Amino acid sequence: MSKYVSIIDVKKHVGETVTLGAWVANKSGKGKLAFLQLRDGTAFFQGVAFRPELLELHGEEKGLEIFETIKHLSQETSVEVTGVIKEDDRSKFGYEIGITKLTVVGESTDYPITPKEHGTDFLMDNRHLWLRSSKQQAIMQVRNELIRATYEFFNNEGFIKLDAPILTGSAPEGTTELFETDYFGTPAYLSQTGQLYAEAGALAFGKVFTFGPTFRAEKSKTRRHLTEFWMIEPEMAYTHHEESLDIQEAYVKFIIKNVLENCDYALDTLERDKELLKTYVNDPFVRITYDDAIELLQEKEAENDYDHIEWGDDFGAPHETFIANSFAKPVFIMNYPKAIKAFYMKPHPTRDDVVICADLIAPEGYGEIIGGSERATDYDYLKQKVEEFGLSLDEYSWYLDLRKYGTVPHSGFGLGLERVVTWVTGNQHIREAIPFPRMLSRIKP
Ligand code: 4AD
Ligand code: MG
Repeated sequence: MSKYVSIIDVKKHVGETVTLGAWVANKSGKGKLAFLQLRDGTAFFQGVAFRPELLELHGEEKGLEIFETIKHLSQETSVEVTGVIKEDDRSKFGYEIGITKLTVVGESTDYPITPKEHGTDFLMDNRHLWLRSSKQQAIMQVRNELIRATYEFFNNEGFIKLDAPILTGSAPEGTTELFETDYFGTPAYLSQTGQLYAEAGALAFGKVFTFGPTFRAEKSKTRRHLTEFWMIEPEMAYTHHEESLDIQEAYVKFIIKNVLENCDYALDTLERDKELLKTYVNDPFVRITYDDAIELLQEKEAENDYDHIEWGDDFGAPHETFIANSFAKPVFIMNYPKAIKAFYMKPHPTRDDVVICADLIAPEGYGEIIGGSERATDYDYLKQKVEEFGLSLDEYSWYLDLRKYGTVPHSGFGLGLERVVTWVTGNQHIREAIPFPRMLSRIKP
């Protein structure tokens, strides 16, 4: 057990003397009073030092020394603080600590991120320090809760977590966005998706999910793309796509509900509209077909400024934003043209031009958060697709085996964690949704 109390827990210690392991985020003062903004990673709150009280407790000389130390603390000095927890109605946090003792643990000189405004490039260069700020702390707390609730949801539903490899020989999501590396003389790639391994897992264990980093050499600079992002990929045997959509909807609702229940302080710090988030938990998601989405976009294009779109085209960000905003809730767009989707998707039973799949588009302009499909089960069909997509039969022979030995209907999907973090936190850019983002022009820190 730590001797330190976490700031987030001080409400359990009102009237008690406690010790915190903290850092100084900011300070101010006047006359006999010194105020510290303290943080310890769980929350921020105020520490108050009153000179006469310190003199009385420690004697004239020592008391004055402590007060002077407090008054001259610099930003991000680490401090061990002892004091009495009090309710404080004036602050949003509701509590403060009346400091009775303070010891400097580590000094901090010229901390680069000051309370004034800084440009994003500067903040990103200092990402290792920027993570200490209140907004970044709140985002990471939401991210953590989304991960925690993900494990809870899939464990409750009887899934087992299956770890897919990061180094692979396959390129299931297209061959243009690959990070290649040398694997003892043969080329290998950083995984774009754990899906193919999840499929092997589903046929071995019924219901599985993978969760790990995935990589795409995205050469475009957008607010939605990282080159390294974390994906949750459930895969279910004996499951058709409509059942998969039900699971997806229940899962997304569950994780948002848990963020609302467990991240109140973080959502307030982020000034996120909690009533709006509640509507996503309570109202049914919308399900429309790709055909209907194209029709809607064409019908409304005169009044809007997205580009004209034809059947067969993939949606751009403005199209997705328009569709999701038309319903003000998450929207599944189902059954895309075969030509713009991956090789492994199940062909439609009565139409030759579309596949059984859906993307889930988040409202408020956050774009696609899930891509999923029913998987092709027929050996000959899939073999032909592998060849058509220019993939190596040798490389995919193990994957084709899954259709040779007891093939079954199965479906799965992939949820991009950082897309969901960005949406739930109401942030503008995906780069703040991951501790150390990797993008086209950033690999440091
Ligand atoms: O739609 P995608 O490419 O689907 C797959 O990879 C499937 N194998 C998933 C499956 O069925 N098991 O990617 C899935 C999700 C997207 O909806 C998006 O949320 C996220 O991953 N994503 C990205 N997030 C951040 N940066 C990128 N460059 C992303 N590319 C995809
Ligand atoms: Mg997709």
